[in-house]
Amino acid sequence: MLLPRHRGFVHPVASDITPRAVFEARRALTLAALGSLAAPWSVRAQAAAKSTPLPGARSTVPGAVTMDKPTPLQDVSTYNNFYEFGSDKGIADRAQALVTRPWTVEITGMVAKPLTLGIDDLIRKMTLEERVVRHRCVEAWSMVVPWTGFALRNLIALAEPLGSAKYLRMETFLDKTIAPAQGLDFGYPWPYVEGITLAEADNDLAFMVTGAYGKPLAKQFGAPIRLHLPWKYGFKSIKSIVRIELTDQRPKSFWENINASEYGFWANVNPDVSHPRWSQAQERVLGSGNWLSPDTVPTQIYNGYGEWVAGMYQGLESERLFV
Ligand code: MTE
Repeated sequence: MLLPRHRGFVHPVASDITPRAVFEARRALTLAALGSLAAPWSVRAQAAAKSTPLPGARSTVPGAVTMDKPTPLQDVSTYNNFYEFGSDKGIADRAQALVTRPWTVEITGMVAKPLTLGIDDLIRKMTLEERVVRHRCVEAWSMVVPWTGFALRNLIALAEPLGSAKYLRMETFLDKTIAPAQGLDFGYPWPYVEGITLAEADNDLAFMVTGAYGKPLAKQFGAPIRLHLPWKYGFKSIKSIVRIELTDQRPKSFWENINASEYGFWANVNPDVSHPRWSQAQERVLGSGNWLSPDTVPTQIYNGYGEWVAGMYQGLESERLFV
């Protein structure tokens, strides 16, 4: 059961900023190419970012194109969380071991039409669009990324969810020959799992990402397909998805299993609700300022997307919506 689309709001600036945003994305690519002469960014990681362009017109979905300047590609490509390849931010080289073809995505559970789709067939079925959105990590850093992909609801609709389904449980690949960290015993409950409600999956801003900066998704970003939920802390945006199960049971995520008091189910961005170990009031903007003095900006409730998402949480005030 999918909810009706949000209608009636016309974003006042999307068409105005298109040329600038396109320009910024091109400039970011050029800077990345120039920067590579000096930067310790490997040839393999750069090759992945330079592959064939992806089609996809700029999104007209309200809220899906921010006026903020996209973060330079090189910053986004070299500062990643992808624990399957290590717990440091410099996993880009190691992530090149990820084998993204063949790749299938299974949609299963409480659906009328369970399906398994090869990634290229899946992408061909979808109308791709480009969105430029803010991405705020629970660790209090942020970036702005031009993603290419399609609304999550359009993928879920293919499987025809049953009326009894309430949640999506999503899973990343499990293969310790590709991701050696999955074979180490740090108490991590592999594979990486995330969960959201079906109502959240049906929100206009819930996005399945297959590209970034106009190119197919680089491996360190979670190729060949990941989620992006711009109003939630970044850990909800699960990478390299192989399985989506519709269920009536609230899924327990990877991080919730590790430390539920620090990483809850809802994890909506809120500057007024601190993480147990640090404030969430400000965020460090990647690719701005310098190492000694990075630019920090105030964090916004729902990461600035409240207009489009806050309504989903009315009546849920007794839940721990923000940590
Ligand atoms: N997905 C998987 N499978 N493994 C991960 O370690 N890290 C999460 C999320 N998705 C993670 C993941 C976290 S903590 C963040 S902040 C974002 O991915 C980081 O996405 P980025 O590297 O594209 O910025």
